[in-house]
Amino acid sequence: MIESSSLDTTRAAYDAVATLYAELFRDSVEGHPLDRALVTAFAEHVRDADAGPVADLGCGPGGVTARLASLGVTAFGVDASPAMIELARRQYPDLRFDEGSMLALDIADGALGGVLAWYSIIHTPPQDLSVVFDEFARVLAPGGHLLLGFFATDDDSAQSAEPFDHKVSLAYRLSLDHVADLASKAGLTEISRTRREPGENERFQHGRLLARKPTEP
Ligand SMILES: C[S@@+](CC[C@H](N)C(=O)[O-])C[C@H]1O[C@@H](n2cnc3c(N)ncnc32)[C@H](O)[C@@H]1O
Repeated sequence: MIESSSLDTTRAAYDAVATLYAELFRDSVEGHPLDRALVTAFAEHVRDADAGPVADLGCGPGGVTARLASLGVTAFGVDASPAMIELARRQYPDLRFDEGSMLALDIADGALGGVLAWYSIIHTPPQDLSVVFDEFARVLAPGGHLLLGFFATDDDSAQSAEPFDHKVSLAYRLSLDHVADLASKAGLTEISRTRREPGENERFQHGRLLARKPTEP
């Protein structure tokens, strides 16, 4: 059983800032051409594989979930913060948003064609990340795809996770090698890893990992 005090803290912190967060980051990939391209490529992989719907895990106010839906995939959002889920439901009444945690998803084995976790694994304590990746692998159907966005450490050979003073709740920068290793240990096959330099007024590099659940065990 995962110790839940850190999730409780994260949930309460996002509940408290949900309205402001939604004003600032309704669709957090909108402002970055490379991120938009990556999410579009992910949606194309998901459509081509035709293995099921996509869950946007840690969906926040739901803008990226809506983007996925606009790209022609069946998408729904899951978030630990009830306030975020309420905002997402109000803004996108035609889409499904569920309260839940990536640490123990209320989703059947092999039910999904895709999992997107965009800056949501950053709040998971490093010792619990393998549980989250095992959940990703469990809920993906064979041929399903995973796309992750996160703050990356500058040096992949440095510590695997470095805590930093995230404005909402304690968060961790993660090494790309470590994230790829977690995906691999969960049984997922890497397709691509990318790094983006910090944008204007940003502090950290950004890591992205695209992976796939093999069709043969
Ligand atoms: C930085 S926000 C990102 C939101 C959205 N993905 C975006 O790109 O704007 C992180 C979100 O992850 C959610 N979150 C953090 N840990 C979670 C967990 N274990 N399960 C579900 N949601 C979680 C938070 O409530 C918050 O809404």
